Amino acid sequence: TTARFTLDPAFTVGEVNPRLFGSFVEHLGRCVYTGIFEPDHPAADEAGIRTDVLDLVRELGVTAIRYPGGNFVSGYKWEDSVGPAEDRPRRLDLAWHSLETNRFGLSEYIDFLRKVGPQAEPMMAINLGTRGVAEALELQEYANHPSGTALSDLRAAHGDKDPFGIRMWCLGNEMDGPWQTGHKTAEEYGRLAAETARAMRQIDPGVELVACGSSGQSMPTFAEWEATVLKETYDLVDHVSLHAYYEPHEGDIDSFLASAVDMESFIDNVVATCDHVGARLKSKKKINLSFDEWNVWYLSRWEQHAEAHDPADWPEAPRLLEDNYSVLDAVVFGSLLIALLRHADRVTVACLAQLVNVIAPIMTEPGGPAWRQTTFFPFAQASRFGRGQVLDVRVDSPTYETEKYGETDLLHATAVRADDGTVTVFAVNRSRTEPLPLEVALSGLDLTSVTEHSALADTDPDARNTLDDPERVTPHPVEDTTLTDGTLTAVLEPLSWNVIRLA
Ligand code: AHR
Repeated sequence: TTARFTLDPAFTVGEVNPRLFGSFVEHLGRCVYTGIFEPDHPAADEAGIRTDVLDLVRELGVTAIRYPGGNFVSGYKWEDSVGPAEDRPRRLDLAWHSLETNRFGLSEYIDFLRKVGPQAEPMMAINLGTRGVAEALELQEYANHPSGTALSDLRAAHGDKDPFGIRMWCLGNEMDGPWQTGHKTAEEYGRLAAETARAMRQIDPGVELVACGSSGQSMPTFAEWEATVLKETYDLVDHVSLHAYYEPHEGDIDSFLASAVDMESFIDNVVATCDHVGARLKSKKKINLSFDEWNVWYLSRWEQHAEAHDPADWPEAPRLLEDNYSVLDAVVFGSLLIALLRHADRVTVACLAQLVNVIAPIMTEPGGPAWRQTTFFPFAQASRFGRGQVLDVRVDSPTYETEKYGETDLLHATAVRADDGTVTVFAVNRSRTEPLPLEVALSGLDLTSVTEHSALADTDPDARNTLDDPERVTPHPVEDTTLTDGTLTAVLEPLSWNVIRLA
């Protein structure tokens, strides 16, 4: 049977904020060291940034880049990471049981962003685990104040005369998680976040602040946490954060393929919670969502590793969380992108966790090449073609049974209309065995041709790109997709991510 939907420019979800295509660089494993930064690498520039990685980051089309954590930020002392590199202290990183040299720090991060290009925007997390209001203000002064104060002059003395202009700040990271250094109750965190936000706005009322929401929808404190935190911070912050990672559990691939069902319900539930607090406060303001960590992550493998490691060992830039993604993973990943786009009215920031080596679309070998994982392609295509108005897509699709989510649509789709009137359909076929015929009725859209139908699919859903075979998986063109008399007709391969561009 055929899956169907209608596109009509009169029915839209909202405008895509470019920040939806953000990513995340954490001091974790090899994301920074031998990932984006490797002074001895043949492709490194004068500052030690790998230019081969920079090229791929640009091609990926990332916008906001969150930094420096993640769990790492809850032990972060920003002042360790500035000034002459040879004077910077080596510290224990409790979050990842590693040794942090601070060779790469705040100035290097800003330099990296500038080299990525004007689309790249800083998104700085502050430590509300082991630290508080005073240190947040000091960091803000060092980073953003033009000159003439102790910390802004110190920045200039360190070689950065121009302020960094950091607009977006995350008030801590996953403070609801017992694993977080300095973990807090919702009441404790809500107060601290409110006081920090209030003080940061005294320096600059124009900062944009993200309060920590839950580390996942399955957290026991979920929703109550957001409600409590927002009760304290509603007028002081702009966004609340969401984090979600997906992997197959006990080999249940069909439920894994439907992971976006969970992601969409998570978004809906956080929107409802924010609006509930807003209603109680009789506020006209809406809190937006910053989905600032999302991905496929084989977390259970990491947990086994963490249990096995030697507590006396504090390695520098170890290989951690280096998941190698399959075609199957990329299809689920594409579906997560579709979920974010489908909620573009309220999800105004999202960060793919992470950027290089650590659960990442880009992989590198120390001293060696950099290459694209399977997940690189859906992200790059969505960032490139998913700009404009998201159209309201209501699918009528054949379904399949999943253990976790019950009856689920085989088709997951969205569509984005660019300013020039062209439309891109993003669609996933969740069937592992059957092609899915698709018919899209175009109403009120002046479109006459299919510019491109690209698919990521493979006869082997386990196919991956590796150091030895870095281009094993790439998207391929699909023939026979037509647009006649206002109807788009296509066939989506089993287990596929599809990008159909109409002009
Ligand atoms: O992205 C990896 C980790 O996942 C982050 O450090 C943390 O915030 C989350 O638990």
